Amino acid sequence: MYNETVMEHFVNPRNVGVIENADGVGEVGNVKCGDIMKIYLKISADEVIEDIKFKTFGCGSAVASSSMATEIIKGKTISEALKITNKQVLDALGGLPPVKVHCSVLAEQALKAAILDYAQKNGKHYPELDGFSPDDDHHDHDHGFAETDF
Ligand code: FES
Repeated sequence: MYNETVMEHFVNPRNVGVIENADGVGEVGNVKCGDIMKIYLKISADEVIEDIKFKTFGCGSAVASSSMATEIIKGKTISEALKITNKQVLDALGGLPPVKVHCSVLAEQALKAAILDYAQKNGKHYPELDGFSPDDDHHDHDHGFAETDF
């Protein structure tokens, strides 16, 4: 069901943990499966994401996709990071089973929430985040989620 890359990132996830005094922290959750994702960012004065860590109370697909997403994002600028799509993360993982694709969205949403937190604390504005709300129930949209997905 899961390819080797996904399994490897699940068994040996990168960038798990907490950043003390993080510049941005984002947490998103899903009321249906109960999974929670938290992302911490260390951001330099020139808006480079120097460090990123995540913690999740979530399934294996959420762990693997967050691990891959954090690897891709580390070292990027905020505007570069905001352009990274969920599909790029999925492609780098070699894909997830269709019923698990929605799990990877949790990392993307937590990243956006963390950048929004940074923006609010520093009086910055990123147009890519217009209309984004960390409190939305993300799985209720169009990610193919159903009660029986997990
Ligand atoms: Fe909820 Fe995977 S993130 S089942």
